[in-house]
Amino acid sequence: MITAKIVGTGSWLPKKTVTNADLEKVLDTSDEWIVSRTGIRQRHVIGEQETVSNMATYAAQRALSMAGIKAQDLDLIVVGTVTGDVEFPAVACLVQGNLGASRAFAYDVRAVCSGFVFALSNALAYHQCGRVKRSLVIGVDALTRTLDWTDRSVAILFGDGAGAAVLVSDEEEGHGVFSTHLRSDGALWDLIYYPGEEGRHPCSGVKLEGGRFLRMCGNKTFKVAVSELANITLEALAANHMGIDEITWVIPHQANRRIIDAVGKRLGMPAEKFLVNIDRVANTSAASIPIMLDEANRQQKFASGDVLLLCAFGSGLAWGAALIRW
Ligand code: UT7
Repeated sequence: MITAKIVGTGSWLPKKTVTNADLEKVLDTSDEWIVSRTGIRQRHVIGEQETVSNMATYAAQRALSMAGIKAQDLDLIVVGTVTGDVEFPAVACLVQGNLGASRAFAYDVRAVCSGFVFALSNALAYHQCGRVKRSLVIGVDALTRTLDWTDRSVAILFGDGAGAAVLVSDEEEGHGVFSTHLRSDGALWDLIYYPGEEGRHPCSGVKLEGGRFLRMCGNKTFKVAVSELANITLEALAANHMGIDEITWVIPHQANRRIIDAVGKRLGMPAEKFLVNIDRVANTSAASIPIMLDEANRQQKFASGDVLLLCAFGSGLAWGAALIRW
C-alpha cells in the first residue's frame, strides 16, 4: 500500500510576543493562574500588517527547502485554517500563488484546532490512491484576531503561527504517515464557536450576540478533550495492532498543559514522550501540531523508525489522530 513520507517541515511565528506579565497589566489575571491552569507563559501575536497566507507561505518555504523540493513540483496543497485573510478564496490558493506552485490543486479544510490532522488525512488519501506524489500540508491560524481581549477566560489562551509538512509518496510498508483517524460531534458545536459578523444560531436562525468574538465553554471542553484524545489514541493503536509502548513520541494539540498531562495519565504514558511547547506559543489552533513537529524535527529528536502519534482536538467538536513511522 502506498503511504506518504514527511520529507520536510517548517514553521513560522509572528515576531510580536505577549507575555503573561503584559496581560496582568490589562486583565484581572495573574501569571501564577495562567501558568498553573494552562502551562502558558507567552504567545506570539500576528501584527496589523501581517497576514495568515504569508505566515503559511513562510512555513511552507522552510518545509520545501528542507525537503529539497521545488514548489512547481507540488501536486497538492491542503491548508487547515479557519482564519483566512479573506472569506474566500482558500488560503491554500493564496499560498499556491505566493509559491508559484502552478501544477498543484489547492484547498482549505476547516476543522479548527484539528485542521492539520484533518488536512494530513486528506492528503494521505490522495497519495494512497495514486492521485498525487508530492503534497504540502499546512496548519495556520490567527485566532487572536477573533478574541475579546477584555475576556480573561479566552484572551490568555491563544497565539498565532503556521506549520507545514512536505509529503512524498512512499511504497515502504508501514512507513511514513500510515494511519489517520478522524471524529467529530456536531451536537457539541456550541462549546467553542466564532459566529463572525453575520453568525446565526443554527436552529433558530436568530442572530448571535457578540458576533465578533470567539466563545468557549472551557470547563466542559476540557473534559471531552481528555477522554476523546485518549479514546482516539487507543483506536489508532488498535486499528494497527499496536501497543501503547510502541509510540516513541506524542505530538498533542497544545491547548492546555493539564489536558496533555491528563491524557498521558489516562493512557499510562510517561510525560517525557509528550512534546510540548505551549509555554512559548500557547494554543495556535491548526498550527499547533505542525509547529511542534517542526521544532522537534529541527532539534533532531526523531530517529529512523520512531513512531509518532499526532493527536488533535477542538471546535466542531472535531478531533483526530495520525500515526507516522519516521
Ligand atoms: O483548542 C481548542 C480546545 N480548547 C480546549 O481544550 C480548552 C479547554 N479548557 C481549558 O483549557 C480550561 O477550561 C481553561 C484554561 C479555559 C479554564 O481553566 P479551568 O480550570 O477550567 O477554569 P474555570 O473556567 O473553571 O474557572 C475557574 C475560575 C473561575 O472563577 P470562580 O468562578 O471560581 O471564582 C474563573 O472566573 O477561574 C477564573 N478564571 C480566571 N482567573 C484568573 C478564568 N479565567 C481566568 C484567568 N485569570 N485568565
